[in-house]
Amino acid sequence: MNNQVLPESEKAMLPFTHREWERRAREKLEIGPYSFISGNAGMGETANSNRAAIKEWKIVPRVFRDVEKRDLSIELLEKKFSTPILLAPIGVQKIMHPEGELASARAAADSRIPFIASTMSSYSMEEIASVMGDAPRWFQLYCSKDKEITKSFIKRAERSGYSAIVITLDSSVMGWRVQDLENNYSPFRLGIGLANYFSDSTFCSKLVKPPAEDFAAAFSIFSKINTSASLTWEDLEFLRENTKLPILLKGIVDPRDAKLALDHGVDGIIVSNHGGRQLDGSIAAIDALPKVCYVIGGKIPVLMDSGIRTGTDVIKALALGASAVLLGRPFAYGLAVAGEEGVKQVIRNLITETEVSLGLSGYHSIKSLDRSLVVK
Ligand code: FNR
Repeated sequence: MNNQVLPESEKAMLPFTHREWERRAREKLEIGPYSFISGNAGMGETANSNRAAIKEWKIVPRVFRDVEKRDLSIELLEKKFSTPILLAPIGVQKIMHPEGELASARAAADSRIPFIASTMSSYSMEEIASVMGDAPRWFQLYCSKDKEITKSFIKRAERSGYSAIVITLDSSVMGWRVQDLENNYSPFRLGIGLANYFSDSTFCSKLVKPPAEDFAAAFSIFSKINTSASLTWEDLEFLRENTKLPILLKGIVDPRDAKLALDHGVDGIIVSNHGGRQLDGSIAAIDALPKVCYVIGGKIPVLMDSGIRTGTDVIKALALGASAVLLGRPFAYGLAVAGEEGVKQVIRNLITETEVSLGLSGYHSIKSLDRSLVVK
């Protein structure tokens, strides 16, 4: 299904709440893909904490302040954006919808929301870039054990107009994903999510035959190199030397790591626990945010994801020091339910609710938000 063929009557019936998007996605998808998206690591404790911790923060609205004009715009890495929202890197989007990343990238481009393409995308970074025109996009990099492949990915991202590199650090090994084990389901085993590898000449030069002709061998090589478990802070130098693009580190929750990131000259941090999909029992992202922001002291932007569902969640994260937030599963469900139009509707809902919540909190702009807006 694509946007052009979604009838008006169906568009009008698209949901407004996260719960309803998720319910409709569950109805639409097979159990394997649905559980892969909605599932968490272990007992799901971190995923639950992400939501519980956001709920514990309460907004204390101010009144009698002029909020007639409300401005959601922000500046990030020397660029202006109309909202403080980005689409989080989510791999394997073909399991949600045949158009996968192409549909969500078009939806992001439509509202000029930066799209972060995952290394594990089901379309190559070039294919994604080709549907985005000059709309903002970042590339999320899983560093390979093989530095030549990492370098090749960075160069390809530069050539296709990605304007920042996000290095995800909370996935040195794959989380303990119980639902996927129970369903015996892995998109990667089916070849979904490997488009960036299979379209990479450096990767393909290591194969005897093209991946399509010998998928088993290609997958086995991919499995061996796709591990960053041995990487350390020193490897950041290699990345820094190989790109002039801003580098952001995703998956930082300890203020000591935030300080190390700053000392190593990165351009931004994303406080995240991967939506509770990696280390179960780890700290809720919003609880990690204030201390990270404190040690960073405004020197570089601190973004946050994991648990953001509503406009009030966005306002709380920004009041606690985030420069912007990443939207994760909500847009994946939008994609599953109605492709590009679904993602557009999820984005529209979130932007509108954020703007309403800003005004009702007594603030006219994102820039004027501060810590005094929320209490625990
Ligand atoms: C992810 N996430 C992720 N992160 C990343 O850096 N690279 C990736 O390839 C993926 N892939 C991925 C797939 C799926 C199905 C999900 C749900 C998530 C994590 C993502 O960027 C983000 O951190 C979380 O989605 C945030 O948590 P919530 O808000 O979705 O709960």
